Amino acid sequence: MMTAFKTLDDIGDVHGKRVLVRVDLNVPMQDGAVTDDTRLRATLPTVTELADKGAIVLLLAHFGRPKGAKRPDMSLSIVTRPYEQVLGRTVGFIGDCVGDLATQYVGMMQPGAVAILENTRFHAGEEKNDLELAKGMAAIGDYYVNDAFSAAHRAHASTEGIAHLLPGFAGRAMEKELNALEQALGNPERPVAAVVGGAKVSTKLDVLHNLVGQVDHLIIGGGMANTFLAARGVKVGKSLCEHDLAPTAEAIMEAADKANCTVHLPYDVVVAKEFAANPPSLRTCNVHEVAEDEMILDIGPAAVEALADALKNCRTLVWNGPLGAFETPPFDAATVALARTAAALTQEGSLVSVAGGGDTVAALNHAGVADDFTFVSTAGGAFLEWMEGKELPGVKALQH
Ligand code: 3PG
Repeated sequence: MMTAFKTLDDIGDVHGKRVLVRVDLNVPMQDGAVTDDTRLRATLPTVTELADKGAIVLLLAHFGRPKGAKRPDMSLSIVTRPYEQVLGRTVGFIGDCVGDLATQYVGMMQPGAVAILENTRFHAGEEKNDLELAKGMAAIGDYYVNDAFSAAHRAHASTEGIAHLLPGFAGRAMEKELNALEQALGNPERPVAAVVGGAKVSTKLDVLHNLVGQVDHLIIGGGMANTFLAARGVKVGKSLCEHDLAPTAEAIMEAADKANCTVHLPYDVVVAKEFAANPPSLRTCNVHEVAEDEMILDIGPAAVEALADALKNCRTLVWNGPLGAFETPPFDAATVALARTAAALTQEGSLVSVAGGGDTVAALNHAGVADDFTFVSTAGGAFLEWMEGKELPGVKALQH
């Protein structure tokens, strides 16, 4: 159960106050243009609300991984213009997040003005959660607002340290995210199903261990399912499979059994001899009929139908990772079909559906249903750590 945190509803009169807002401006860029502005748009409710109330809005963020070096290619000045366009207001840029330059610039800002401070990771102290750096940032603000859930798994000076030095609040995006996650795993309506897909079991061991104790149905897809099938003695041919993890997969299935969690593995699969779009060797077969020179690239239609039936009896769904090699047709079929079922159940009001992680968002967008889920998190590492049951330092620091 999540401890309460303060939100912008609790911040009081901010007119003329300097509000440091930690946002995630770590957006993908190509040839100087932002290729996905989701994270920029996510900050708008908080920034607009504070600026409209007359706050002096100071955006703290990292960009890339400069590791304490001042790298011009990782300067947040690059993001300032695109951000200004998304926000629809003038946005200033301050060449440092601490020190005299920042103090002087902030001292000249008018109520309602917005500025981006230079990449916090240009200071080595950021990733070390250095107290002096946190104090330097806190010195230019009156309040701290964290609106960057996707960076909350980092215990850094701008995500954690500073929250102990100024009155701290969750921004609107953070608030929405935390409430959705609480609804999905903190205090969910049962039965709860989790879809965990993706290439490798090894990257999601902690997720699986945590989920078996929390959900009623664990649906395993992607390359990960092959490892579980192989552990059950199924011959998976040339499929992507971590054979050495068979004992781990068995232990997870045993733990699930004890916790009354049903593990769903496919009965039928889509296979091919080569991994290419619509390959000539494509066929659907029972999992026990995969030939030695074939690889499993998606779960089959009978399995998808069974999963859709299981979801119809569930009230909550949390989804991370695709069911097949969804970027290459027709191995997107299972992911698209199950995502559409989940979206339809959500729209009918029978399911709360929360999804997250880079590939997952891409898969749901590909299925055209991202807007029909209850909540889709754009966080990558932070979403996974939350699914692992870990406490996120940036969130914890807001809750004390
Ligand atoms: C992300 O892109 O997931 C966040 O901005 C965190 O970035 P990091 O993995 O470099 O800490």
